[in-house]
Amino acid sequence: MSVTEQPPPAPGPGPAGEGDGDAAAEHLRDRISADSLTTRRDYLRIVATVSGGLAIGGVGVAAGILHRHGDSETMPEAKKVADRLEPGRSVAFRFPGDEDRALAVRLADGSLVGYSAVCTHLACAVLWREDRGTEGELYCPCHEGVFDARTGEVTAGPPPRPLPRIFLTERSDGSVWALATARSGEPAKEALCRQFIDSRPEMAAQLGCPGADRVTGGSEKRRT
Ligand code: FES
Repeated sequence: MSVTEQPPPAPGPGPAGEGDGDAAAEHLRDRISADSLTTRRDYLRIVATVSGGLAIGGVGVAAGILHRHGDSETMPEAKKVADRLEPGRSVAFRFPGDEDRALAVRLADGSLVGYSAVCTHLACAVLWREDRGTEGELYCPCHEGVFDARTGEVTAGPPPRPLPRIFLTERSDGSVWALATARSGEPAKEALCRQFIDSRPEMAAQLGCPGADRVTGGSEKRRT
């Protein structure tokens, strides 16, 4: 599972995600079921993919004023955002709510990343620009705000905080799904614990989320 960044697909004659012959990767993708997170491995994959991209940002002028992604305390329902996403391409979608603009991008190396498309400066729409920077950039045309496509960090302009991350996964058929969100600058574990603790307590326990033992009665911890 991008949450957001996926390991790049192995080289092969077909489109990304097809015919790669990588049995281990194929097995892992097959384990991602329709109702999203089901195994600890799936979860760990999410954490691994996002861990580098969620540094703490400053407190922005918009904090508390603009609607924020990732405010849900429970795991949102998984949402399909694309049948397939080729390298260098992006797709706009709404997640977790119908008013929450979001963007999924497949980077040139195959990594899959997802972000809120609401600029953290004054809420203009953030766009994917493949032609900018060394591997493309997330660009806000209102005041020349620029975000790192791989991490969501601000690299130029007035935005005060990173873009909130959206956790994505790619299924065995190549479709891309949004699974969960993080607040701007929120560490991946903290974001997932916040959303797992009630809706996926067994996963929260495996992660070691505070309070998870209380929810599961400690059974998950004893099994691991
Ligand atoms: S609204 Fe995006 S840079 Fe100002």
